[in-house]
Amino acid sequence: MQPTVFDSPRPAFSDDEVRRLAADTFGISGALRHLDSERDQNVQVGDHVMKIANVAEEPAALELQHAALAHLAVTDPTLLLPRVAPPGIVRHGHHLVRAVSYLPGAPYATVAHTPALRHSLGRFVGRLSKGLQGFGHPAAHKSDFLWNLDQAQAVRPMLADLDSGDDREVVEAALHRHQQRVVPLLPALRGAVVHHDANDYNVLVHDGTVSGLIDFGDMLFARQVNELAVTLAYALLDTNDLVAAGRDVISGYTAEFALTDDELRVVYDLTATRLAMSVAISLHRSREFPDNSYLMVSQAPALRLLRRLMGMRPEFLHFAAREAAGFSPVPQRDRIVAWLQSPECQPADVLPFDLRRAGRVVISLAEGAPATSFAGPVESWEWMQAQMDAAGAQVVVGRYDEDRSCYAGEQFRTDAPEPRSVHTGIDLFITDGTPVHAMLPGTVETVVDNAYEYDYGPTVVLRHHTGDGTPFWVLYGHLSRRTLTTVTPGQAVAAGDVVGFIGDHTVNGGWAPHVHLQIMTDLMADPDKGFDGNFEGAGEPSRMAIWKAIVPDVNLLLRLAPETFADHTADEPTILEPRRRADLGPSLSTSYRDHLSIVRGEGVWLYDHTGRGYLDCVNNVAHVGHSHPHVVAAIARQAALLNTNTRYLHRTILDYAERLAATFPDPLRVVYFTNSGSEANELALRIARTVTGRHDIVAVDWGYHGNTNDLVEISAYKFNRKGGAGKPPHVHLADLPDPYRGAHGSDGPASAASVASACSAATARNGAGPAAFIAESISGCGGQVVFPDGYLAAAYEHARAAGAVCIADEVQVGFGRAGSAMWAFELQGVVPDIVTLGKPIGNGHPLGAVITTPALAAAFANGMEWFNTFGGNPVSCAAGMAVLDVIEQEGLQARALDTGTYLLQRFHELATRHDAIGDVRGHGLYLGIDLVTDRDTKAPATALAADVANLLRDRGVLVSTDGPHDNVLKIKPPIVLTRDHADILCAELDRALHELKDPTK
Ligand SMILES: Cc1ncc(COP(=O)(O)O)c(C=O)c1O
Repeated sequence: MQPTVFDSPRPAFSDDEVRRLAADTFGISGALRHLDSERDQNVQVGDHVMKIANVAEEPAALELQHAALAHLAVTDPTLLLPRVAPPGIVRHGHHLVRAVSYLPGAPYATVAHTPALRHSLGRFVGRLSKGLQGFGHPAAHKSDFLWNLDQAQAVRPMLADLDSGDDREVVEAALHRHQQRVVPLLPALRGAVVHHDANDYNVLVHDGTVSGLIDFGDMLFARQVNELAVTLAYALLDTNDLVAAGRDVISGYTAEFALTDDELRVVYDLTATRLAMSVAISLHRSREFPDNSYLMVSQAPALRLLRRLMGMRPEFLHFAAREAAGFSPVPQRDRIVAWLQSPECQPADVLPFDLRRAGRVVISLAEGAPATSFAGPVESWEWMQAQMDAAGAQVVVGRYDEDRSCYAGEQFRTDAPEPRSVHTGIDLFITDGTPVHAMLPGTVETVVDNAYEYDYGPTVVLRHHTGDGTPFWVLYGHLSRRTLTTVTPGQAVAAGDVVGFIGDHTVNGGWAPHVHLQIMTDLMADPDKGFDGNFEGAGEPSRMAIWKAIVPDVNLLLRLAPETFADHTADEPTILEPRRRADLGPSLSTSYRDHLSIVRGEGVWLYDHTGRGYLDCVNNVAHVGHSHPHVVAAIARQAALLNTNTRYLHRTILDYAERLAATFPDPLRVVYFTNSGSEANELALRIARTVTGRHDIVAVDWGYHGNTNDLVEISAYKFNRKGGAGKPPHVHLADLPDPYRGAHGSDGPASAASVASACSAATARNGAGPAAFIAESISGCGGQVVFPDGYLAAAYEHARAAGAVCIADEVQVGFGRAGSAMWAFELQGVVPDIVTLGKPIGNGHPLGAVITTPALAAAFANGMEWFNTFGGNPVSCAAGMAVLDVIEQEGLQARALDTGTYLLQRFHELATRHDAIGDVRGHGLYLGIDLVTDRDTKAPATALAADVANLLRDRGVLVSTDGPHDNVLKIKPPIVLTRDHADILCAELDRALHELKDPTK
């Protein structure tokens, strides 16, 4: 067998011989200094290095090095590499000899290592990889080169030289990991000519950065990624934090030369492999050449690093490498998160109630937080319960991504300098024994008892998958022992199935009762042993960028509003209430016994300062949903462009007026814009009074038309109630035509007789008659009263016969809310002379409108100008236009009809079970439930109505009460309300009526 460079001794020329050779052959002279080498003799002579090759060295191997250096001199001329001195490679006896320029700098092994130095090392080697791209040489194909990482398995026979014991075990484990994770991927990894030996004596450092690389003797064609793996094997030796140090090198390398995911997947495996090879080869060689001390120099630190690397999970290192390379750490993370945020993902409640609507207390377990000051779990749970009682909360929430002081114990120590202290889940503290439900359909992966102090105790991990089949897992920790027999591994579970129960401190690792929830995008399971049912619930602060990709925020499933986790001290009701009392007039009332501090709205939901969601079944202003993005964008766009009064020509106001008018029957064609419903009604009265020359008004009893003096005077809801001055002489009231409580039941024409009487009263008073008859198209303040068929037709006939103008107040009910018609007056088959609009018209943006006929508009133009500074400004018109867009594009009138009809049917169903429901009425999403203490007498259940509204509020559903007796529950939500939302309302209403009837339930 041919001797190789590994089993031939190093050359050992005398100083004289070296000096002579240098001078004679290369014209080099200077002081001599012997340099370390494993198999050659390297001697510095002045500013050059004489390299005397091992006898067994092939000439082609040296030619390879020279060709590579020549290539690099062109591709990256400023990269500091040795330059070959002429005449190149010469033969001297049995040895090949050459001289290369001496590169100044201290070996990397001998200087202090900073992050910046490691980064510059990565960059240097990255430049080398980039510079070597496209380089090839026949001699690079060294199929039997011992150090070739691609063939790491070839060193296995050398393990026989290692004494059995820990060292051998860790070397074997590294080779096993290589076989398992690298070998199958080899065909997928790119090949290139690589230096393959950027060790800490070959890398030179000057002024804190890498200044050169020497010794191209190991160059070969191998896997590209080996270059970085070998670099890491030396750069990480004895580093304090190998993930941080690895990040420095990898980020530097990949800034110059990008790696693929497969390469990043195995780079740390190959680093461990290189270390294992180094140990195995060195020990093997030390047996053969016991006097070669160089061989053993680096083995102790190499073993230490190998042990640390092998103590970490390979997938974690893969993710760390990706993070360092600037990729999202877990390749599948984005796909999983996108699915979790998609409409396909519909998580069920994890606890037996809707957490999003539940009162909550968020606590901190950070250093020094009050919750950390207790002697034990019993005391801290007592404290939490007191917090919940004070806040009317059902649950205490512990935060994701919080650096906590509570994690003691060995299991929180890792190879990182700091322990794992940052929480990767969300905790829900609640009474032990409470059932815990699967949030998604899936399969039970594991059910184990992690029965160690500070651990999870009984733990369930469920496996789920995205629409495209990507698996992910959800962990439910700190459960009770009963859980261990509740589900079994492999069992299929449906969303909502009970998968366990909250454990107490005796079984749950010693904590106050709670469930720890977290999502895992990868189990990082040991490929040999599989997943053991435990998984970190906290990460090292310095590694959170990696941990957060492995364990994304489980709030993706819980869907607690972001306000839950924000500081909301300034919005606390206890802070705002006194300010409101001091700053605003006391006549302004606040809804509910426990006032709400609402900070955000979205769709049909309102969110309070604690992030608690309330299903908004009251707000008919946010007609197309709170803060609808299309409306918001339209307002923002126009506000950024122009907002001014209507003294100029502007296309938007005309486009909007035409589009709005087109939704009305002829001859309602002319539009005036105002800023509110009150202003619209005020203008309507002015038009009516101007064109008729009369002052008196006929209005329907219990009506409300606005907050101005004139409107309070015609609104019985105001003047006839607390603080009201009573009916003024010029106002004449027609009876509220209430089919349930009124004298004429559902006889519309009969009910309208009182309009005729009111008109007569006006005529009697002023000798001419009323200027206007005004009526809401469905009475809101009257108690959601739907007028009997034929009422408005007959009423208008009487009014017009008396010379009055007919005004329909659609401020509450317009814009498709009524479901089967865009305007509620259409349900009565009439065409008013004037229609007034407000509330929903701008989805909350202050806007109102009056629509009338060209004839009335002309008669109104008597010379006095009608001017309104803000009415019809471009921003308001953009808002109004956007509202019409959304109603059309989202088919919201049809939605109002569908959900409204469904709700009516559900309310009727409820009426079969709850005697307190006297009447159910309404159109579309403008509904009322008339509560009574006695169905026969129809005695109004005023107190019950208030209690129901307040209890629903406490359960996260908002309704209001109204009507002459304040006993009617009003339901008039944004018309985006769906049947699912309707089900929430009905379930809570059912429960409330049940509980309030029998308070023990
Ligand atoms: C039927 C009716 N008309 C008019 C108004 C007055 O509208 P605004 O408060 O916008 O002035 C209201 C307000 O509640 C209303 O309900």
